[in-house]
Amino acid sequence: MVNRQFGWTGVEVPVIGQGTWEIEARPELEDGAVEALRAGLDLGLAHIDTAEGYGRAQDVRGKAIAGRRRQVFLVTKVGPSNASYEGTLRACERSLKRLRTEWLDLYLLHWPSHYPIAETMRALEALVAAGQTRFIGVSNFNVSQLRAAQAALRNERLACNQVPYHLGARGIERQLLPYCAAHRIAVVGYSPFAHGNFVSRSSTERHILDELVRCGALFRWDVLAQVGERHHRTPRQVALNFLTRSPSVFTIPKASIVQHVRENAGGVGWSLSDYEIAAIDRAFPTPTSLQHWMRRATRRAMRSLTRISHSKVNRNCS
Ligand SMILES: NC(=O)c1ccc[n+]([C@@H]2O[C@H](COP(=O)([O-])OP(=O)(O)OC[C@H]3O[C@@H](n4cnc5c(N)ncnc54)[C@H](OP(=O)(O)O)[C@@H]3O)[C@@H](O)[C@H]2O)c1
Repeated sequence: MVNRQFGWTGVEVPVIGQGTWEIEARPELEDGAVEALRAGLDLGLAHIDTAEGYGRAQDVRGKAIAGRRRQVFLVTKVGPSNASYEGTLRACERSLKRLRTEWLDLYLLHWPSHYPIAETMRALEALVAAGQTRFIGVSNFNVSQLRAAQAALRNERLACNQVPYHLGARGIERQLLPYCAAHRIAVVGYSPFAHGNFVSRSSTERHILDELVRCGALFRWDVLAQVGERHHRTPRQVALNFLTRSPSVFTIPKASIVQHVRENAGGVGWSLSDYEIAAIDRAFPTPTSLQHWMRRATRRAMRSLTRISHSKVNRNCS
């Protein structure tokens, strides 16, 4: 596996890591998930991402890294609803226990929170001082939120911003990526396969395939497939290579079977040509500012709705 420096920290971290969201969704498949994680570690995919919000994922991670802790760059997150000063300290204690470790490599605030950012940052600094995490960072922060978080820190620097980044969501390339590169903040792109909705050649597309081929037009899928063919790589490997072409970016696909982990590991260690990058760029363009803004607004609205419905369920149950 190819490693690169994780922002300003100087620590070498694998470009491709392993996500864990919903790995606990099917308990009967837990042993398979542990096996996949361990296979990933054997292949050098030692950047492991989890969060207190991922339910039992932290326990699964704990099992997978047992006896191999020093090999792993271990990341977890405090949820926004726990991000008060005391709440953050307690959340970290809980995560350490579930992950069966004494320290984290990186501890993130999962989403912007209603607690004052200075309070959460103070707690994150206290965790570094106590040796419970080596580095701290944030997730799902835009540039102005990053600035505010950094300004609230007294002794530490933000090491990372974890944000969505896949071929259908390249909005971070507009402002966030250049800002992070300039401040040497590592960008960890999550959901590189669009949370399971990776581009495919659908039946509808096939229906009009003949027509488009006749016109010389190619499908987005075909662009990935053709580029991959030249390098003896799969479309997913092409996507991972494209997404990590900037030296400040890392990616954390989630795979719960060994075959997928193996395929993902082959996403780096080779290079796309400028011509191929341009072709992928044309097939999966960065959104306009308006599109980017609308997507962010929709995501925010969806999150608020989910929070409201969760709190209603909790009220009804109590
Ligand atoms: N900070 C945040 O707010 C945030 C939000 C979302 C995600 N994340 C992190 O990012 C990680 C990855 O994102 P994600 O879980 O949303 O989705 P993802 O990695 O984009 O996609 C996961 C899906 O792709 C499938 N897959 C993976 N490799 C494959 C392969 N080689 N061939 C075919 N299918 C493959 C997986 O199937 P199998 O499971 O069957 O292998 C799963 O269905 C998460 O697990 C989490 O750690 C962070």
